Amino acid sequence: MGLAFKPYKDSPDYNVIDVILDRHSVSPKRLDFPGPDEIQIHTMISAAAAAPDHGKLRPWRFIQFPTEHRKALADIFEAALLERLPAADQDSLNRAREKASRAPVLLGLILNLNADATIPHIDDQIASGGAALQNLLLATHAMGFGARALSGQAVRTNVFRKALGLSDSETFLCFIAIGTPTAAPKRNQRPAPETILSQWNGKPNT
Ligand SMILES: Cc1cc2nc3c(=O)[nH]c(=O)nc-3n(C[C@H](O)[C@H](O)[C@H](O)COP(=O)(O)O)c2cc1C
Repeated sequence: MGLAFKPYKDSPDYNVIDVILDRHSVSPKRLDFPGPDEIQIHTMISAAAAAPDHGKLRPWRFIQFPTEHRKALADIFEAALLERLPAADQDSLNRAREKASRAPVLLGLILNLNADATIPHIDDQIASGGAALQNLLLATHAMGFGARALSGQAVRTNVFRKALGLSDSETFLCFIAIGTPTAAPKRNQRPAPETILSQWNGKPNT
């Protein structure tokens, strides 16, 4: 199509469009130390907090799982698997536990949807959570780290919800594993803009 818009070419600032177009997920198996330090995590969370938020409801929050508490998280993953599959074998339980130790930094994103808010659509709140997640992923990528959002089955179990003290209105949307990529990324092909953009013809359906 010959549409290669490159803004801020002469800007001394990092080109945000390049960061967005270059971002890709990195499997937690390929995320090693060093992870982001406290100040870098603070910047990432600040980026998340810049997400659009209809009505300033802040319908989401983050939680960090420090490395010293990963064994306790592994115990929860094991119990969550047993809740779903009481006859799970030892290999499956070990695999469930291993998920807790991957990636130097592990965050969780919790949605708290307010059905009684004056904002008319609850979808606005879900979209705000998605924007917070994407802002965080972009900031992570811009700072040279790799990351991946992961939900998995455990997060919807009663065991997991109770262990994290989630309220009835809260949903654990996903973990975000962050670290230094150890291998070249596997890049997903993106949809061509013309396949996801159409022009309305101005004639309402009747
Ligand atoms: C909220 C959320 C939860 C996700 N959970 C998982 C998951 O449990 N397992 C998985 O393989 N991918 C999961 N993904 C998808 C990956 O994080 C990633 O986006 C996908 O592999 C596409 O890679 P890309 O980000 O490079 O396009 C999830 C994505 C989102 C937004």
